[in-house]
Formats: sequence, structure tokens, C-alpha cells
Amino acid sequence: MWISVCLISSFLHITAGCTILVINYGKITVYSGQSVLLPCSCSKTQAKPPSFTWTKLRGQHSPVIISPRSDLYRGRVERFNSTSPGNLSVLLSHVTEDDQGWYRCQISREKYSDVELTVEGCTLSEPRSRVVNGSPGQSVLLPCSCSKTQAKPPSFTWTKLRGQHSPEIISPRSDLYRGRVERFNSTSPGNLSVLLSHVTEDDQGWYRCQISLEKYRDVELTVEGKYHPLTTTTTKHPPLTQPNGLDITTFLIPTTSPKGADTVGTSEEDPSASLQQYNTIQYTLLAVLPVILIITGVAWYIYKRNKGTVCIP
Ligand SMILES: *[C@@H]1O[C@H](CO)[C@@H](O)[C@H](O)[C@H]1NC(C)=O
Ligand SMILES: *[C@@H]1O[C@H](CO)[C@@H](O)[C@H](O)[C@H]1NC(C)=O
Ligand SMILES: *[C@@H]1O[C@H](CO)[C@@H](O)[C@H](O)[C@H]1NC(C)=O
Ligand SMILES: *[C@@H]1O[C@H](CO)[C@@H](O)[C@H](O)[C@H]1NC(C)=O
Repeated sequence: MWISVCLISSFLHITAGCTILVINYGKITVYSGQSVLLPCSCSKTQAKPPSFTWTKLRGQHSPVIISPRSDLYRGRVERFNSTSPGNLSVLLSHVTEDDQGWYRCQISREKYSDVELTVEGCTLSEPRSRVVNGSPGQSVLLPCSCSKTQAKPPSFTWTKLRGQHSPEIISPRSDLYRGRVERFNSTSPGNLSVLLSHVTEDDQGWYRCQISLEKYRDVELTVEGKYHPLTTTTTKHPPLTQPNGLDITTFLIPTTSPKGADTVGTSEEDPSASLQQYNTIQYTLLAVLPVILIITGVAWYIYKRNKGTVCIP
């Protein structure tokens, strides 16, 4: 009896062929959102093992079987053994950071090969500036990106923060943003910036780019109108202190943004410059007028005298 079992099993092994796996002590790194081939093969690609399983190891916990029928892997696993029976690799797609870990390709109790998968997920990078300036009617890029633009976050949302009120989701489907929002993640999965067009002063405020509950970046949008009463007040009355305690230096320190400060700076210079110009013209006229009068008088006198001498024969 025992001998016959041994004979049958060795017979099966001979016909099945695959008794040796190519061992890949591999460590594979992939960006989240991409696909990865977990390699495993028989020493002869046409040799077929009786069966094979892929599992994800979980330390003390029992391994998870990677089956296209399991919720975790539905639509994400592809096998290649139909065309090449000894090719036991699987292609795992839409990889997330949760997929990181050790995987085992097994053809029998003691024959297996392990690979380690490392997934580089999305880490939000620090924006160059937390303030974005726009002008009414123009487009502004609200910046947000993963430090590796190949890495795709599981999802991302942009919202406009509204103080105590719940934030407003910036969706191309919402009335407020229809036709005004453009995303770039189709070409570069980790580029989470959005282009907001036809901005108005109502768009001013804080915006949040969020990839998970605790991972987000905020940027402030300012939309500079054509006329800013506060700036004009300070330019007409340039003393350093105002009755209401406003200090002109407050407006010159670039607390909000360098560009904002620039705008205040130029609008502060412009009226005083034109006033100076006006004064200069006035003084020039006052100085030049007597000279012109004198020259005219002298010319008239000479003309009269010459006319007198020439005309008398
Ligand atoms: C491929 O492998 C699976 C898992 O062992 C098996 O169920 C299936 O029959 C194999 N397909 C072919 C064509 O060998
Ligand atoms: C198994 O099939 C995949 C997909 O066709 C291929 O990329 C891989 O190189 C194959 N592996 C072997 C060992 O032939
Ligand atoms: C871009 O991001 C949105 C929002 O997370 C998502 O619904 C969409 O599938 C992404 N597009 C691509 C091509 O990744
Ligand atoms: C994202 O895409 C926009 C539009 O192409 C581009 O201006 C911006 O620089 C990109 N951001 C990153 C981090 O690549």
C-alpha cells in the first residue's frame, strides 16, 4: 500500500514535471497604483505542477490566499499558466501600500519561493508657497503632489474650507465648479494639482488637498481685484501711524505673499510719483514763463528798431 502511494506520487511527479522552482530571492519595489509581476516558475517552463498557490504571509497570522475570487484581489490578479504551464508568476495590478510584504509561491508543502514587495506610496510634498495669487477671470493652479509623481494615492479630494461650515468639495460636477476644474492625474498619477479657471473674488480662501484622514496640504488663494480701498487710504495719507493705529509697515511686510506686497508697493509709489511730476511741470512753467516774456519783449524791440532803420531810405 505504502509502496503504491509512493509509486503513484513519483509517477505523477515525473509526468507533471515541475518539481523544482526557480528561486528568486527577490525584493521588488513598485509605486502605488502600478502593476507588478510576482515571479515564480518551474525550472522547465513547459513542466506543469500538480497545483500551485500564491499566498501573502502575515507573520503569526495565517497567510492570505491570493485568489481572483477573494474580495482583496478581485480583478487584480492575472495568471499566465494557460499558455506556459510552468510560468507560475502572477501579475498584481492597482497595487496599494497595503500590498507591501512577503509573498509565497508554493507547489508543495516544502517547495516554495518567496518574494518581498515594497510599495512606494504617496507622500505629500511641501508646496513651494502656501499662497497662490490670482486675478479675476484668470486661471490659477492649486498645487499639490506626491513627492514621487509616479505614486498614485488611493484617492484624493480638493475641498474649500469654510470655517465652522463643512468644507465644499471641488468637483467638476458641482454647480460652482462645473467647467472650471482641470486635473492632471491621468498623465502623472501623483500630480494632484487642479487648475481652477475664471476665478472670482468669491474663490478667495483656503483650499485643502487630502489623500487620507490625516494626510493633507492647505493652500490659500487670494484674488486681487482692480481696486483696493485700504491700499488707497494708506497712499493718500502716508504718515507712519494712522489714527486707528494702522501702521504703514503692516502693509509693506509680505505677510501674505511677496506678490501682494509688490502690488501694495507699486500702487503706493504710483500716485506720489505722478504728483511729483505734476509739481515739476508747475515749477518749470513758473520759471520759464518770465524768460519767454523777456525774450519776446527783446525780440519785439529789436524788430521795431530794425524796421525803423531799414525802412527809412
Ligand atoms: C493554472 O493554475 C491554476 C492554479 O493552480 C489551476 O487551477 C489552473 O488549472 C491552471 N491552468 C492551466 C491551464 O494549467
Ligand atoms: C511569465 O509570463 C509573464 C507574462 O507573459 C512574463 O512576463 C514572464 O517573463 C514569464 N515568466 C517566465 C519565467 O517565463
Ligand atoms: C484622478 O483622480 C480622481 C480623484 O481621486 C480619480 O477619480 C481618477 O480615477 C484619477 N484618474 C486617474 C487616471 O488616475
Ligand atoms: C502638475 O501638472 C501641471 C499642469 O501640467 C504642472 O503645471 C505642474 O507643474 C505639475 N506639478 C508637478 C509637481 O509635476
